[in-house]
Amino acid sequence: MASLSFFISAVLLLYLCGGSSSSRLAPVWQRGSKAGSLPPSCERIECPSYDLVQEGNGFEIRRYDSPVWMTTSPIEDISLVNATRTGFFQLFDYIQGKNKYNEKIEMTAPVMTEVSPSDGPFCASSFAVSFYVPAKNQADVPPSENLHAQRWGVRYAAVRQFSGFVSDYSVGEEAAALQASLAGSSWSEAIKKSQKAGDTKSSYTVAQYNSPFEFDHRVNEIWLLFDMDESHII
Ligand SMILES: *[C@@H]1O[C@H](CO)[C@@H](O)[C@H](O)[C@H]1NC(C)=O
Repeated sequence: MASLSFFISAVLLLYLCGGSSSSRLAPVWQRGSKAGSLPPSCERIECPSYDLVQEGNGFEIRRYDSPVWMTTSPIEDISLVNATRTGFFQLFDYIQGKNKYNEKIEMTAPVMTEVSPSDGPFCASSFAVSFYVPAKNQADVPPSENLHAQRWGVRYAAVRQFSGFVSDYSVGEEAAALQASLAGSSWSEAIKKSQKAGDTKSSYTVAQYNSPFEFDHRVNEIWLLFDMDESHII
């Protein structure tokens, strides 16, 4: 009896979680995205620089040149919002001086949450939350027990901006909208190829530019990160 009810709830969970992504692909993506604008936070605090490679319809392609991130261990959760909060507090402690050098580090943006599918329990994903390390700390990143430095080479991102507070629901919508706007483009092929090659473990990434205490002009982005042979674009 116990195993039967377990089975039923398992099926129900799979149905609820599995069903959401495809049914949300309905043509709801008419709200425009503001491509090409740097979030206002980046006028106040340091953000990683990038080159705008292409401004498309509903997306933009950026080229990031070797930013450095401080990243949490994978956090298993069913909620991106909650996993980001968990990670954010670890990173907040870190920049407040809870690191091997007892060094305070300037606040930057964005806080980045990489979402990967997980082998864990139903509907859970694995999240890695990252803080962009200011240029002046990049050569010698203060170490910390539960965090690791992530050094990118050149990386590309297909980006969609959206405003407001990130919710688990809006993230799914915006990620699907980005996928839809890229469909049929050569970028879509490059992203698939990169993910297949295992260069990118994450299915997508959410970048948030505001602290939880800011209510106006909030800017967030969905990123599909990919690597590609540079000779292909020039
Ligand atoms: C996220 O955290 C809040 C507050 O701790 C909790 O009430 C909520 O159920 C969590 N959401 C999910 C989807 O786990």
